[in-house]
Formats: sequence, C-alpha cells, structure tokens
Amino acid sequence: MALPNINPTETKSWKKLQEHFETISGVHMKSLFAEDEDRASKFTITWDDFYVDYSKNRITEETVKYLLELADEVKLKEAINSQFSGETINQTEGRSVLHMALRAPESADFKVDGVNVMPEIFDVKKKIEKFTNEVVNGHRTGYTGKRFTDIVNIGIGGSDLGPAMVVDALQYYKNHLTTHFVSNVDGDHVNEVIKKLNPETTLFVIVSKTFTTQETLSNANTIKSWFLKSADEAAIAEHFVAVSTNIANVKAFGIDENNIFPMWDWVGGRFSLWSAVGLSISLSVGYNNFENLLKGAHKMDEHFKNEDFSNNIPVVLALISVWYNNFFKAESEAVIPYSQYLNQFATYLQQGIMESNGKSVDRNGNPIDYQTGTIIWGEPGTNAQHAFFQLIHQGTKLIPADFIGFTKSLHNNKDHQDKLISNFLAQTEALLNGKTKEDVLAEGTADSLVPFKVFEGNKPTNTVFINKLSPESLGKLIAMYEHKIFVQGIIWNIFSYDQFGVELGKQLANKILHEFNNSADSVHDSSTQNLLNYYRGIS
Ligand code: F6P
Repeated sequence: MALPNINPTETKSWKKLQEHFETISGVHMKSLFAEDEDRASKFTITWDDFYVDYSKNRITEETVKYLLELADEVKLKEAINSQFSGETINQTEGRSVLHMALRAPESADFKVDGVNVMPEIFDVKKKIEKFTNEVVNGHRTGYTGKRFTDIVNIGIGGSDLGPAMVVDALQYYKNHLTTHFVSNVDGDHVNEVIKKLNPETTLFVIVSKTFTTQETLSNANTIKSWFLKSADEAAIAEHFVAVSTNIANVKAFGIDENNIFPMWDWVGGRFSLWSAVGLSISLSVGYNNFENLLKGAHKMDEHFKNEDFSNNIPVVLALISVWYNNFFKAESEAVIPYSQYLNQFATYLQQGIMESNGKSVDRNGNPIDYQTGTIIWGEPGTNAQHAFFQLIHQGTKLIPADFIGFTKSLHNNKDHQDKLISNFLAQTEALLNGKTKEDVLAEGTADSLVPFKVFEGNKPTNTVFINKLSPESLGKLIAMYEHKIFVQGIIWNIFSYDQFGVELGKQLANKILHEFNNSADSVHDSSTQNLLNYYRGIS
C-alpha cells in the first residue's frame, strides 16, 4: 500500500494554522508564560528517563491543537502503521524502511514481502557478537598472532557518520581498542590514519551498503596495498572484514566469505548504525553496550508507534519544527548538546535530516510550492556559546534550537556539572526572555549603548533533559530524531528515503576524473573548463 498522498497546504488545519499564525506571530513568549502558570507543565512530556520541555516555543494550546489536526489530516497514524508493517514506503526505490526491526526483540514480527526478517537479523547479530568477543578477548588475532589493538572503519555517509558519532559519544564505555574512521577520498585522510597503524595489530572494517562507493573503495584499496607491503595475501582473511549488501563485489575485493556481515536494502544508509554497519561500535564498546544502544532505540520505537500524538516526543518535536519552517519561515534549526561526548551529533543528524527531507518534489512527482527540509547545524554547549550564540540571541534570523542535556555527568565532577547545567538552563531562559531596555538602563548602561545591549528574546527552544548518557539513552535519542524525520516527510508529502540528489555530482566527478588523463570529449561551462585546465596544467 502506498503512503497517503496529501498536499499539507490544502488541509483545513493548514489554513487554520495560517490564520492562527497571523494572530500569534507578534506575541512574545514572556506574555504566554505570564498568562498561564501551568504552561511549562502543560508543554512537557516525561517519558522513561527523558524530560522534554517544549514550553519555550511560540505556541499556545490552540497551535498544538491545529498541529495535531494536521497530523491527522495527512494520515500520520496510517503512515506509521505502513512503515512498521514493512510496506514499500520507499516507493521511488521500491523498498521497505525497517531499521526499527534491527533493534526489535527476536520475538517481533517484521515482514518484508511477507517474510519475517527477524531470523536473518538475529543470525547477523549473533555473528557480530561472536566476532566482537573474539577480537576484544584476543582470541582472534592478526597474522603474526598478536592481539588487535586498532580498528579502522572505512566507509562514508551512513557507513561512517553513525558509527563515528556513536563511538565518540560512548567513549566513556570503551574498551582497549583504538578506533579510527577513514571516509574522505582526500588521500591525506587515509594517510594520516595509516601513519598511526601497525599492520600486524589492525583490523579493517570496510562498510559500504552498495560496495560501489568511490571514496570507500579507493580508501580500502589504498589500505590493502599498504597492508600487503608487510603481509601476504593470505593475511587479508585475518585483517579485513566487510559489511555490505553486495556480496559479489566484496568477494571480488578479496574478502573471505566468513568475514562478510550482510545487511539489507530495507535499511537506509543513514539509518543503518543499528545493523552490522555498527560493527565498529560493537568492537569499541563491547557487544552488550551495542545491544543496550539497540534496546534504547527500540523503546523509542514503541513510544513513537503507540503513544498518543499529543504526548509523543518525536511527533510533537516534528510538528513544532513544521510550525517554524512553514509558518515562521525559519530556515535552519540548531542542535546544541550540552555534552562534549555529543561533539559529532549535529554532523550525524545533518545526513539523517538533510539527505532525507531535502526534497522539492511531492509524492505525485510535482514541484512543491512550500518549504521542506530544514538546515541542521550545531556544536556542543558551552563551546557554541562562545562561537555562534551571538547570532541566535541578537541576529536577524529566527533559529529554533534543541538543547540536549544530561542531569548526571559520567565522571561525577559536580563542580563542572553544575556549571555546565547552569549554562544549559541559562541559555534557554535568556533566549526566551531576552533583556528589555528598562533592564539595560537599570544596570547603569550609558544611553548611547542601550540599543546594543537589548535582547529581544522570544527565541524558541526545546529542552531534552536526559538522566545520563548511556548506550541506552543514546539509542533513544537517535531514534527520536529518526522518527521526527519520518513525521516531517509525511507532513511535507515527500519521499524521505531516497537520495537521488547526491548522484549528479558523482557522475560528473567520474567524467572529469576520466578527462584528467584523456582528451576531453565532453563540454563544460567555461568556468568549469578553465578550472579543469588550470588543474591539469599544474598537477
Ligand atoms: O552519498 C549518498 C550515499 O548513498 C549515502 O546515502 C550513503 O550513506 C553513502 O552514500 C554511502 O553509501 P555506501 O554505504 O553504499 O558506500
């Protein structure tokens, strides 16, 4: 069954939201708080170890009512059911979208073309577990009998960003293995990593769903050649493993059949860290922690699937984001984790959100005349405060932001934690209230400086306060954003699970690469042609 196909702007609720926007867009959130002392609790969802406060948004109960009506009118519930039942909701690629199956218990029943995929998933999970334990415990060694000390994940996009972000985020839970990530086709990247490695003690995990990606194959070949300077061909079986759907290409690369961890085309690259794509996560933090990551994501899946929309964290966050994107015309959203461990979180989300919802054609194939995917960016607080917060506070753009924090720190340093969380809370308070002219004058500021020191406030934020950063809570957090992506794609009536937009650049790059060493037969615009000639002349 196809996804519902409804132009959101033609719904009744959209029109109500448009009219409502006219009345609320000039209202300051300060007055909304002053009018209703229960506002914060009304607009807070507590679930498991998550405390999600969305009261610091330019919304009223009426806004939420219309947004929830919009969710109903675009048939969000039906769409969720279609996704979870394994229907081919990635219609342009003819695939199901079932990353949720990867984190479900063995007893679950997720079907693709009528076949339950859980047995296959659990076969691969057992293989990941066994392999992880053998490497971590030192039962599996390199070609000279030495224990592995280093892991190198070779992949790009979804085959890199998820594992890299999670390994970094969970470094507190890490074992003795050092994990490296090689992604860029820039040869300086792979060479800088190689510099640190001993071929006898390094395990290479080549991750590529298609096993055709230029960057990954170039890096894998460079590493293989480097490795073969010290070892012979037979040693490849001990040092190289691959994660892919393309078994034939993996074998052609020279990887032993036993060293292949399969994945499936119903797992999108940017949603694949839960599959064997997460092998480097499992190797870095141990299989139990990897399982806990999956367990957390599964809990969020259940919440998303079963909870009433008014109390459903991914749904509410998605609706609020649509409110700013389509009515306030906000172009970007910031994600600010108050945890250095989540240093790569915004970068990771950029692929998930922008590759999924960066579309301008609706599900009928017609051009869209409303805004879709938001631009996502961010850095951890408090660093971000000393970098770009000035613009959020006093710039001309409206930038809704998610603030993510953890009530407990992992190293139990109360002094630092109190300072961190005081900043976390202070920033959303400052963004809400701003600072009036009267406040500035009361501080004794000279009249001439007053305009520069006034903060308008009224800047929207969501606060996601989580008990502690753990594999499980991280799993929930990632899944929360995955479902938010889904909800927004449904509302915008676009296909979120293809990425044709990245193909054109790849094709042209191949053409230009060919022309570096061959007489040019294709025609370029004069700018590209001059640049190409310039490079050929000096390279
Ligand atoms: O660049 C687009 C893309 O297809 C992503 O969607 C994907 O995550 C990445 O390339 C890597 O693809 P693969 O895992 O097939 O090497």
